[in-house]
Amino acid sequence: MSNPSEAELIHMFKGIPFTTRSSPELLESLDTFDAREDDVLLVSYPKSGTHWLAGVITKLYNTQVTLTSPIEFGDISKLEELNKLSSKRIIPTHLDYNMLPPNFKNKKCKMIYISRNPKDTAVSMYHYYRDNPNLPTVDTWTAFFDLFLKGDVVCGSWFDHFLSWEEHENEKNILFLFYEDMKKDLAKIVREISLFLGLNVNDNDIEDVCKRSSFSEMKSDTEKENSDPSHTVCALTSNRKLIFRKGAVGDWKNHFTPKQNRRFEEIFNEKMKLSKM
Ligand code: A3P
Repeated sequence: MSNPSEAELIHMFKGIPFTTRSSPELLESLDTFDAREDDVLLVSYPKSGTHWLAGVITKLYNTQVTLTSPIEFGDISKLEELNKLSSKRIIPTHLDYNMLPPNFKNKKCKMIYISRNPKDTAVSMYHYYRDNPNLPTVDTWTAFFDLFLKGDVVCGSWFDHFLSWEEHENEKNILFLFYEDMKKDLAKIVREISLFLGLNVNDNDIEDVCKRSSFSEMKSDTEKENSDPSHTVCALTSNRKLIFRKGAVGDWKNHFTPKQNRRFEEIFNEKMKLSKM
């Protein structure tokens, strides 16, 4: 059987490419979503460390919480399904700030945005495109590099996504995190997350959460199916085995040519002129 064509896998919604795993009807109805004040949103551009963050957060609670699938994943029945959950909801999403259901903003729900060096994000996404049957085929890193810089990939431009959220980083209900800071000192970030979520955790709990959230632990949990292998927090796959690849900082150096690096830096500097990053 031949691979599905790009048109079968991708559709555009408000100028952003989505996979057909997010139905147009669902995307259209997101604005009507009824948020609850105690919902927590986990927000990211794909491949920024969403599963790592979700792993940390779910381990921090000692009360009943439900980590849902991404709000933009599924068909029109999704909103009803989320409505039926009686426990506190931790809801992941790759949505741009402007596409977020307004109710989350009006109710000042807590939102955690995780970001990652876009060069490493691009490399991680390239491998995801190659391994994930829900995404179009890309033949070479060079071809993917151009698509990424043009924003011609699922979830659109990394720059637009980041900037749409960065504009709101000083709002009290939004916490901005970086993958690289988690790699550097996970305990510090876990403490920051627990304070932000108002959770009472001691140093032993933090140490335990860090241990159980290491790349090797999370990867082996998935391989041993200690965690549900068909539950991901990425709307682009339900296969957890595609998530834990290398978990490193700086893998871009193994992919970028010096010329690509110069081009990336030029575009980064231009697009991020007004950013604090
Ligand atoms: P790589 O492809 O560079 O390895 P997301 O969860 O947003 O899809 O991001 C996936 C990226 O986060 C992958 O990056 C994955 O390996 C990395 N990752 C997942 N869990 C991690 C962990 N516990 N520690 C460090 N990196 C992790």
